[in-house]
Amino acid sequence: MDRFEIRGGNRLAGRLTIKGSKNAALPLMTGVLLTDQPFVLRDVPELADIANMRRLLAELGCSVEYTADNDVDSPGGVLTMRAVDETVSHARYEVVRTMRASISALGPMLARRGAARVSLPGGCAIGERPVDLHLRGLTALGADITLDSGDIVARIPRAGGRAGRLKGARVFMGGPFGSTVLGTANVMSAATLAEGTTIIECAACEPEIVDLANMLNAMGAKVEGAGSPRVTIHGVKELGPVDHRIIPDRIEAGTYMCAAAITCGDITLDNCPVDALMAHMDRLHHMGVTMQFDASSDPMRTTCRITAGRVLNPIEVTTQPHPGFPTDLQAQLMAVLCLADGNSVITERIFTERFLHVAELGRMGAQLYRQGSTVIVSGVRRLTGAPVMASDLRASACLVLAGLAAHGLTTVNRVYHLDRGYERMEDRLRALGADIQRTSEKEAQTGIASGMA
Ligand code: EPU
Repeated sequence: MDRFEIRGGNRLAGRLTIKGSKNAALPLMTGVLLTDQPFVLRDVPELADIANMRRLLAELGCSVEYTADNDVDSPGGVLTMRAVDETVSHARYEVVRTMRASISALGPMLARRGAARVSLPGGCAIGERPVDLHLRGLTALGADITLDSGDIVARIPRAGGRAGRLKGARVFMGGPFGSTVLGTANVMSAATLAEGTTIIECAACEPEIVDLANMLNAMGAKVEGAGSPRVTIHGVKELGPVDHRIIPDRIEAGTYMCAAAITCGDITLDNCPVDALMAHMDRLHHMGVTMQFDASSDPMRTTCRITAGRVLNPIEVTTQPHPGFPTDLQAQLMAVLCLADGNSVITERIFTERFLHVAELGRMGAQLYRQGSTVIVSGVRRLTGAPVMASDLRASACLVLAGLAAHGLTTVNRVYHLDRGYERMEDRLRALGADIQRTSEKEAQTGIASGMA
């Protein structure tokens, strides 16, 4: 198992290009199941989750070819796929358990193949993650859904002895917390091939949903209103080929903004989706971080320079569905706030248990007090390096950020979590001046053994 060894204290400065978005790429990739035509995605990052999705789609009868772009500073590689065997319809537990986003295959596969069997994803480190709204939405479109041996079994009832089609309907996709991102993606994708019009109320407004709608429309779908809480989909009989460039990763960009903030750094991000990061940038602005970007360029792919001084102001922040502050940046911002000049308050409203990083930050000298879904962060003058354990993707990024600023050596164990969502993070941070190495546990143990001899 790999780990990062970070000697903190270096000020980060330089330039890097933001990669294509993982969370856009995953549901977009399952769009290949909606057609038998060629399907090309560009700026696809080279990440463990993307590799898992490629494996799943290959198992579901697609030819899959990925040409990586080995330049550490390119936005990503090219993925060329095509559904060649449309008789398969089972997404097995062995694949689904490695990646919850596998659930995105359900809607597209059902809509085109008339049947889908997808293992029910379990919980994960950030909490219970139900899929009831996905199923409610597909049921409203006429799917017959049951649970069998841990699998979701969905099928479209046959009509007059012939294969049936999903039927357009008005679907409410909200839960107690707000909308669901992958649930909206699933229902929206399935509805493109339904008979008649579907209206999704309380749809997720995330930029990844807009990117999906744009790709589906390029395939011949008729999706209107994506990015707003009401999305209308006029069903079509079939979809055609596509060649689509994925939006840049707002969470990767937001994380490197935090890296500038926590190291009093000066980082310029190219291919930066500032339009999708307004809430995050607003919080950083209140902390005293300066962000400059060219307002006349494409706000989803602009250049943004982030500079931070020694004093960071404390703030309050609550995670919300887009365009509110994203849960996927809560842990990283918490690392920065550990060094702010006063008390900050962070409230998590999307995944209320997403605080596994709190105890690990405490090992580095952070002063954090958790009450339910709120954490009070009492800023300290400095963090000290320590061995810490990564528990999930964004918590890992938080610990790396803390390590960059901490005094002494921080060892972040289990960085495979990080590899799910950040491509070559150590190389990119090193290029900005960080003292960070990837070592394997075996090497580290050898180091301990020789140190003891
Ligand atoms: N929820 C339900 N029922 C459902 C679906 C969701 O109650 O049927 C609840 C969840 O428990 C949660 C809230 O709704 O409280 C929001 O969950 P959502 O469905 O929006 O999450 P998701 O679509 O499964 C995506 C991202 C997550 C990100 C969330 C929220 C992907 C692959 N994953 O998950 O990304 O945190 O949206 O923005 O797009 C990450 O990248 O680290 C990550 C976890």
